[in-house]
This record gives sequence, C-alpha cells and structure tokens, in this order.
Amino acid sequence: MMSKNNNQETVRRFSKPVIVAHWLNAFAFFALLLTALPMYTDFFNWLYPVFGGPANARLLHRIFAIMFILPTIFMILVDPKSFFHWIKQIISWKKHDFQFFAPFAKDFIGKHADVPKQDFYNAGEKLNSIVQILTTIMLIGSGIVMWGPDNFPKGLVLWAYPIHNIGVGLAATLVVGHIYLSIGHPKSKASLRGMIKGDVSLEYAKEHHGRWYDELIQQEVVQGKKGKKSKAPSNSGKNLGV
Ligand code: HEM
Repeated sequence: MMSKNNNQETVRRFSKPVIVAHWLNAFAFFALLLTALPMYTDFFNWLYPVFGGPANARLLHRIFAIMFILPTIFMILVDPKSFFHWIKQIISWKKHDFQFFAPFAKDFIGKHADVPKQDFYNAGEKLNSIVQILTTIMLIGSGIVMWGPDNFPKGLVLWAYPIHNIGVGLAATLVVGHIYLSIGHPKSKASLRGMIKGDVSLEYAKEHHGRWYDELIQQEVVQGKKGKKSKAPSNSGKNLGV
C-alpha cells in the first residue's frame, strides 16, 4: 500500500516476517562467524574468554547453527507467500537480468550507467540470493556431518571440513558486498529502510526496481500519470513482497 512519510511517498516492500527472518539470519550468521574464528586461528584466541572458553564457544556455535536454520522454516510457516515470491523471482532470469551486470559494475565504482529496468529483486540480488542459498546448504549439510561424525562414513567426514570452509569463505565475501550496497553505496543505501521499516520511497522503487514499479502502477497501487487515483493494492500480494 502507498503512504506518505516526511512528505515522501512510500510503498510497502517487505512484510514483518521477512524483516524478522532477515535479521535473525544476519544475527545467526555473524554469531556463527565470531564463535568459529578462534577455532580457525590463534590470532582470534582472545575471543574465547568472550564466549566463556573453547567448550562454550563450540556449544554456542551449535546453538547459533540451529538459529541459522530457523528463518527458512519460520518463513515457510508464517509467510509462505513472501518466501515463494522470493524463490520464484530469483529463478526467473530474462534478458534484462543478464543486461544488468555490465552497467552495474560501472555504477558500483561511482560512474554513471544506464541499468535496465529491474524486477522486485534486481539481477545482483537474485545472484546474491542463489549463492547465499547454496552456501547455506553447504554450511548446514557439512555442519550436520561435523556435528556427529561417528554417524557418517569416513570419506564424507573428510569432505565436510573443506566444504564448510569454502561455504564460510564464499558467504562472508558476499556479505561484505551486500552490506556495502545496503549501508555504504550512495545510490542503493536507500534500500535499508525497506529491511527496517518495510517500505521504500517511490523514487527508489522507480529507479532501482523499474519493472516492479510498473507493475504497481498497473495494479493501481501507486499513482502513475497525473490525475489517476491510487488505490489499495489488490490482495494478490504478487508484487509487494508481502
Ligand atoms: C548488517 C548486515 C546486513 C545488512 C545491513 C543487510 C541489508 C539488506 C537489505 C537492505 C536488503 C533489502 C534489499 C532490497 O530492498 O532489495 C537485504 C536483503 C537480503 N539480505 Fe541482507 N543485510 C545484512 C546481512 C545479511 C546476511 C548476513 C545475509 C545472509 C547470510 C543476508 C541475506 C540477504 C538476502 C538473501 C536478501 C534478499 C536479496 C538481496 O537483497 O540480495 N543479509 N539485506
């Protein structure tokens, strides 16, 4: 639904369950990373006392691992519409998605670029989501094997360790870029409001997710041309990330 905030027109982007799931996922990810760092290198040994010693750090790592799995289950149970809208979006790749990356690379380093109109999730977010899902499967799958190695064949246990490490490296690298775009990049940091308050300015929607914005106009959720009245959204939730 469209509304006004500080004289700026805004439109709903994410539902409350999406916001809760996202931040629970982010918290669990960083907690997992912090509790694991001293297990990787002595350089981070100073973290052990913070977690109450090596045994407690290991226990906490397992608790945060369960917390890391929960957002997916929570979304499927509480807000399947948003969850499957996300899945449907990230597996849909059309011409405008492939045409996104070259101009985006220019935009990323601060140069002017004409990025083609994007969907509710732009191609970069789609790719980020796909790789994050793959790394999550790698981390959780290998983590389960590492949790109870006696229950699995020796060969599988040997594979679990490098798979876990590659998963961590990939996910952490992506998260650095993801956070930069969310809080540091001058043009895209306006997206953070969506993941905190749930809505974004119409201007942001139009500029960054032009195809979603066009759908909102078509559904008469937002006012396109002058004189056209805006209506409450149709209840499909199709384009609203509800
Ligand atoms: C301080 C940390 C983080 C910040 C500030 C942040 C911010 C955001 C924002 C603003 C969005 C919405 C983008 C939009 O409107 O299209 C988003 C989406 C998303 N976030 Fe995060 N996030 C953080 C951590 C994480 C972590 C740790 C993960 C995964 C391990 C993650 C995974 C995702 C995914 C998969 C999406 C949907 C697709 C995308 O926008 O790339 N986020 N995040």
